Formats: sequence, C-alpha cells, structure tokens
Amino acid sequence: MMHGVTAMLAIRETKAEDDPFVLSCSHAGESAEIDACSARRAPLLRRLRLGGAVALGAFLDGETVGFAHGVPIEISSWGPLGEGILTLPCLYVMKKAARLGAGRRLVAAVLEVARRQRRAAVATTAYRDLAGAEWFLPAGFFESVGFDVVAERGREVLLWKRLRGDAPPPRFLEPIYQFEPVPGRVAVDLFWNGFCPTSDIEGERVRRVCAAYSSRVVLRENCAEDRAVLLEHQIPRGVFVDGREVGWGYEAPEEGIRDAIEAALCRHQPNSSGSSADGANLGRTDVRTPR
Ligand SMILES: CC(C)(COP(=O)(O)OP(=O)(O)OC[C@H]1O[C@@H](n2cnc3c(N)ncnc32)[C@H](O)[C@@H]1OP(=O)(O)O)[C@@H](O)C(=O)NCCC(=O)NCCS
Repeated sequence: MMHGVTAMLAIRETKAEDDPFVLSCSHAGESAEIDACSARRAPLLRRLRLGGAVALGAFLDGETVGFAHGVPIEISSWGPLGEGILTLPCLYVMKKAARLGAGRRLVAAVLEVARRQRRAAVATTAYRDLAGAEWFLPAGFFESVGFDVVAERGREVLLWKRLRGDAPPPRFLEPIYQFEPVPGRVAVDLFWNGFCPTSDIEGERVRRVCAAYSSRVVLRENCAEDRAVLLEHQIPRGVFVDGREVGWGYEAPEEGIRDAIEAALCRHQPNSSGSSADGANLGRTDVRTPR
C-alpha cells in the first residue's frame, strides 16, 4: 500500500481489538505456533497492565502498523535493572509504515505515560552492528529520538531518556550461570520469559524436543517472569545444553536443539573422543545472551 502525505497516523493505547496484532508482534494467523503463543501471552500482558504496563499502537489510515510496550522496570523480565524507571522493552513499526514518524511518536507516547506515572526515566536496551539484523532495535534510532547512552557492552547499548534530574541510571543485567551436571544424562537449562514471543516459542520447542528423549535428558526451567529467578540468573532468554549455550537469535529451531543434544549424548559415551561433559564447565560462566 502506498501512503502519501495525506496518510493519517494515530497513536493510542491498544484495545482488546488490537490484541491479536500486539500479542503476536504483528504475526497473527501466520501459524498455529504463533497463535498458541499469543494465547499464552494474553494473561501475562493483562497482569503486567495491572502493574502499570502499557501497550501503545500506531495506526495508519486506521490500519495497525506498529506498537510499543512500556513496562515498569520492577516487573520487566527483559531487564534492565533499576528503580523508578519505565522500560521500553519492545517497539516495532512495520516496513510499510517506515519513516513516517510512527516510531518517534510511539516513543513520545511511552514517555508521556512515564511522565503520567511520575517515573524518573524511560530506558531501553538496543543494539549496534548486528550483522544481518541491522534492523533489530537499532541504537541509532533511539539516539535520534533523544535517548542518551548509559552503557555499551559489545553490541548491546543501554539507553535512557531522563525525566527527572535525580534519576539513578539503569544497569545491564549481569548474567550468572553455573552449570551443574547430572551424571549419565544430558542437562538442558532453559531460561525463558513469557513477555517475548520469540523466547516463549523457543521454550515450547525446547520442551518438545527434550520430552522425546525421556530419561536421557533432564530439562531445567528458569522462568524470568519469576522475579527471584530473574535476579538470581539475570538471563531472560537462553538455552544451554550440558553447559554450552546454543542460540540462533531467532527462535531456536527444533532440529538445532536436537543436534546439540545428540552431540552432548555423544560426549557422554565412555569412548567418545570429545571430553566428557560430566564435570565439565563447572566454573562460573559469564554469559551474554542478546535477544
Ligand atoms: C526502528 C524503527 C522503530 C523506526 O521506526 P520508524 O517509524 O520508521 O521511524 P521514524 O519515522 O519515527 O524515524 C524517527 C527518526 O529515527 C531515525 N531512524 C529511523 N529508523 C532508523 C534506523 N533503522 N536506524 C537509525 N535511525 C533510524 C530517522 O532518521 C528518524 O529521524 P528523522 O525523521 O529526523 O530523519 C523501525 O524501523 C522498527 O520497528 N525496526 C524494527 C525494530 C525491532 O526490531 N522490533 C522488534 C523488537 S523484538
């Protein structure tokens, strides 16, 4: 669809009728897997709303073309950590509405909510130089709409827009993972959150694959929606097979998870040329898990 200068862009809080778009990150009806994920996310987003979270939508000539979430930092399973801040964990404008100002206005609307809630700042985690995924939450976009960089760590950039002078800055999550082997079995440590559809869908795939191995694989789940779990590990999303992280950026494919488990099972063989996984990787591992 072509949109000329007369196209009408509107930003407002989403309503029940916008749920399929927001819950699926614009992919409603594309697969049974996505729609099942939306059904699982619905109660979580309702709970977050009760805690002060908002979902804003962008509408071009009445058609939904984007959204942004604002989630109080105290209940954001994506991090970062801090006090009195509204996080902006996810923002998306469809290509067909690109560069029409929807992104800028969604951010402005989140800032407005933060002011209304008397929050000290809005913070987000974005990225630089993601090879092949330069479109993914670009830090440059947030800088061009007035955010300042708080800290950079590899390709991750923590940014904020301060609303009060006394606001303490947010902090990156600091992932803490210590592998604990299970003798004779492959251990899969799944870190997941229900806020991000990618993580939620990945979790379901990991569960399905692990279930097929029955007693040869132990699955240990860590859900970041449980605040104590998030603070203990500070890993909202990650999959570790016998202590080794596997990840694709997008949802882990079942085939990839299976391959990693098969490789780990091979390492468990007594005559395997690889080192035994039992007892390996016992040290504390600093893990960086980009979304
Ligand atoms: C980044 C994004 C939000 C921009 O939305 P948009 O509506 O096209 O942006 P706007 O038209 O409001 O642009 C506002 C400013 O940001 C800048 N900008 C836009 N896209 C940018 C990008 N990819 N990188 C750097 N700066 C960018 C523009 O220069 C613009 O300033 P200008 O109008 O003064 O030139 C959009 O491209 C997007 O949704 N990307 C994907 C984000 C994502 O990964 N979401 C899923 C997370 S799970």
